Amino acid sequence: MDRILIRGGNVLCGNIHISGAKNAALPLMIAALLTDEPLTLTNMPRLADVSLLRKILRNQGADTTLAGKKAGSNPFAGDTVRIHAREITDTTAPYELVSRMRASFWVLGPLLARCHEARVSLPGGCAIGTRPVDFYLKALEAMGAEIGMDAGYVVARAPGGLKGGRIVFPKVSVGATHVALMAATLARGETVIENAAREPEVTDVAECLVKMGAQIGGIGTSTLTIQGVERLHGAEHPVLADRIETGTYAMAAAMTGGDVLLTGARADTLDAFIAVMDEAGVSISMEEGGMRVRRAAEAIRPVSVETRPYPGFPTDLQAQIMALMTRAAGTSTIRETIFENRFMHVQELARLGADITLNGDTALVHGVEGLTGAPVMATDLRASVSLVIAALVANGETELNRVYHLDRGFETLEKKLAAVGADIERVSG
Ligand code: EPZ
Repeated sequence: MDRILIRGGNVLCGNIHISGAKNAALPLMIAALLTDEPLTLTNMPRLADVSLLRKILRNQGADTTLAGKKAGSNPFAGDTVRIHAREITDTTAPYELVSRMRASFWVLGPLLARCHEARVSLPGGCAIGTRPVDFYLKALEAMGAEIGMDAGYVVARAPGGLKGGRIVFPKVSVGATHVALMAATLARGETVIENAAREPEVTDVAECLVKMGAQIGGIGTSTLTIQGVERLHGAEHPVLADRIETGTYAMAAAMTGGDVLLTGARADTLDAFIAVMDEAGVSISMEEGGMRVRRAAEAIRPVSVETRPYPGFPTDLQAQIMALMTRAAGTSTIRETIFENRFMHVQELARLGADITLNGDTALVHGVEGLTGAPVMATDLRASVSLVIAALVANGETELNRVYHLDRGFETLEKKLAAVGADIERVSG
């Protein structure tokens, strides 16, 4: 298993190119199942999750081709992936694949909408929570689906196809919104989705569906209105820049007191994050070509943050801001309101010398003078990168194990950080 070694103390300076968003790329790839024409996605990130999803879609009968980069393009520019589900030959998504990448559960919506049946393994829980799917199933039932369970699989049928319905989500759910939205595009009649997720990745998928011929109103708001159509056609669509990668590298730069330009970043998807960075004494400004991040004040100032559905502070940046606050001049309060177990990084940060007190859904982070490198273990995607941020300023060497978590959501992280001065290397083994 690969490991990453980081020797702390270097200041990050230079340019980091932001890749396409994992959490937009995955649903966009799944949307290709809605049509028998090819969907071409550009600015695709090169991630383990994308490769695994290509395998799952091939399992369903879709052809997927990866066109490399144009000669001379930015080495970090995204790939082009063409997905052509000319015919869906298998409406089953097997446990051995779905359990490895829970977003593959989302094929349930398009398979049901297009083939009127689907047999998809329940994704199961993960390190950060139980991750139930009750909202997804209730939404599809509101569109006339018959849902049953069989040996850990959701067995769904829609004889004669789905029909429009009214869906009111009790809690904002990104995945359930994606699934309901995709299914509704081919349902007969009108579907209204209330309390829909407003994450930029949902907006990105909705805009792609419109290019494919879907009729969607209220994009970007919490009420989506969809008029079903007979069929969708192919399209070409660029994957949105990754706001979580942007926030992550911004905090890495701030942690080291550096000055970094995040090329390709979009500030308009990070308002809540930028406001918190301002409070922390981190200067963020938009320039030609990207987002400039510098540490304005001498020390990092402590903050009080609550994770919330978009446009609130993203839960996917919670572990990273906790790492940044371990070196703040004071005590920060971080409350996780989305997932019930998303503090797995606390113990690992403590191994590096962080002083964090947990009280239910709230962490008190008492800033310390310095951190010390140590062997630590990644537990989930975002927790693992919070350890990288802390290691960048820890005295001595930090060894990060189980880096496959990182590879799921951060394209060539060690190369991007090394290119701006980090003393970081990946050791195969
Ligand atoms: C998406 O997960 C993201 N994953 C997550 O990113 C992200 O943390 C999350 O949205 C919240 O923003 C992808 O986009 C691939 P939810 P999702 O449904 O859709 C509860 C990462 O690191 N809930 O919005 O699975 C659920 O338990 C990952 O990139 C139900 O109770 O999250 C949670 O408490 C981690 N019943 C809350 O809603 C349901 O049927 C929000 O979950 C569905 C969800």
